[in-house]
Amino acid sequence: MYSLVSGPLVWIASIVFVGGMTYQLVNMLKSAKRDKVVYPYMSLKYGLRSLLHWLVPFASRNMRERYETTIVTFAFHICLFLVPIFLTAHVVMFAFAWGPKWGTLSEGVADWLTVLVVLAAVFFLVRRWMLPEVRFVTSLSDYVLLAVVAAPFVTGFMARHQWFDYETMVIIHMVSGAVMLMAIPFTRLSHMLFFVFTRTYMGSEFGAVRNARDW
Ligand code: HEM
Ligand code: HEM
Repeated sequence: MYSLVSGPLVWIASIVFVGGMTYQLVNMLKSAKRDKVVYPYMSLKYGLRSLLHWLVPFASRNMRERYETTIVTFAFHICLFLVPIFLTAHVVMFAFAWGPKWGTLSEGVADWLTVLVVLAAVFFLVRRWMLPEVRFVTSLSDYVLLAVVAAPFVTGFMARHQWFDYETMVIIHMVSGAVMLMAIPFTRLSHMLFFVFTRTYMGSEFGAVRNARDW
């Protein structure tokens, strides 16, 4: 079981992730052609200006108005990438399979950043219950997605600290990590890809056509 989830399953997850993202990208670029305004409205200057404003913490009014969500969102996303990429266990596994290796986080730092991601997921959950405007647009799939993202962090932490049976936990962890990767292209987690395009389009339309700001 261990060889299966640490070998072929990682391959399958990586292929589905890269293939799925490529499919979504090509599909989006093609379907955007059918809309008469998308390509003609696109502007490099206004698109990049908007993207920059939405990637810098507190640069937009919306972020300043909900500063606690902004802090949690940025901390969450930074750790979401930092932890799996620079985790010693992951780097060692990657180096073993492929050869290249790079710097790693210390175990203590990795643990704390993992806890931070889980706390951020709890924050998103509570926010969905507490704010009526967010509750209104929440459906079961939002909870499932949040669980899919939190699961590799919770199970990775449990495996590392040898809570319950180590071997079972590490297998559950690898399966949950693979599920998360494969879910990205086909669920709303695909905002990882679409964020860049929706933002540049909005920035272009607001800047070049309406002469207004979108931040
Ligand atoms: C599918 C491929 C994956 C494999 C094969 C894998 C493998 C592992 C292994 C072997 C460990 C170490 C357990 C120990 O210390 O004994 C680990 C820990 C961990 N992994 Fe993964 N993992 C995968 C995907 C992911 C993903 C996608 C994430 C998050 C996005 C993730 C987050 C973590 C975390 C947070 C820890 C524990 C960190 C700590 O508290 O120190 N893993 N993983
Ligand atoms: C570089 C790529 C990414 C960007 C620019 C991005 C951007 C965003 C933004 C702007 C939000 C809204 C936050 C708010 O309301 O303040 C968000 C929420 C979120 N993102 Fe991402 N994201 C990225 C990648 C990812 C990835 C890879 C995952 C998971 C695999 C992810 C999981 C989430 C989750 C769970 C939420 C919160 C959902 C909720 O409110 O329940 N993001 N992201």
